[in-house]
Amino acid sequence: MEKILHKEELEQVCVYRGRRKSEYIAGRLSAKHAYLILTGKKKELTDIHIANDYLGVPYFMNARYSCSISHNREFAVGAVSDINMLRIGIDIQSCGSIKAQLINYYINDSEKKLLSEWHADYDEDYLFTVVWCAKEAISKLLQYGFGLFGLLEVERITTIQGHLALFFKNIRNVCVRMEEIGNSLVAVAAHIRFFDEITTGSTKFQRLEY
Ligand SMILES: CC(C)(COP(=O)(O)OP(=O)(O)OC[C@H]1O[C@@H](n2cnc3c(N)ncnc32)[C@H](O)[C@@H]1OP(=O)(O)O)[C@@H](O)C(=O)NCCC(=O)NCCS
Repeated sequence: MEKILHKEELEQVCVYRGRRKSEYIAGRLSAKHAYLILTGKKKELTDIHIANDYLGVPYFMNARYSCSISHNREFAVGAVSDINMLRIGIDIQSCGSIKAQLINYYINDSEKKLLSEWHADYDEDYLFTVVWCAKEAISKLLQYGFGLFGLLEVERITTIQGHLALFFKNIRNVCVRMEEIGNSLVAVAAHIRFFDEITTGSTKFQRLEY
């Protein structure tokens, strides 16, 4: 922990216990690595400070980079981008972990109809998790969190380079692309331009074992 966290993050982590503490550390580790890869800087992890604003949004102290973090039991993911170019929202969930009872409050009949078109390829819990994860990612991109869920409606589901991709009503030019990592689903929400950059190789996904 002392090799990863900035001194102010060490103060913050003291208020957390158990799983929340590990998630905080793993989330910081992922985002800091992403920052070093993106910027090519040779900095100590402990010199990078990621704080949270009053809404919980993570941000780099003294760096013009946008940051998004998510964690579940097994994994943490961090996404970093140049704040002037692009923002990203990221979320991770265990596959199939979101059940009908939970999501029923957060999806409407049009979305259920849309999902039914994919039932031949994916089971119901998998699709519910996709929608939940996508909504979390987009709500992080827009920085509101769960408060936004009631306003988000999936309008179209398609595949991009073999990955499920979701588009939302009234949120133009933003796409949420799903990625499977082990038994987890990762949703990345960003301007559609970002996904073109993945194809051209200027944007990277990288996996770390720790
Ligand atoms: C954003 C939110 C959907 C994330 O859900 P979660 O179950 O905590 O799960 P995740 O692991 O995917 O994400 C956690 C990370 O999201 C980030 N985050 C928190 N709030 C955020 C927001 N408003 N916008 C963008 N990112 C946010 C943080 O980096 C957090 O990790 P950290 O606290 O270790 O830095 C949820 O926390 C939320 O709705 N927050 C905003 C409003 C709210 O209820 N605040 C009360 C906080 S006590």
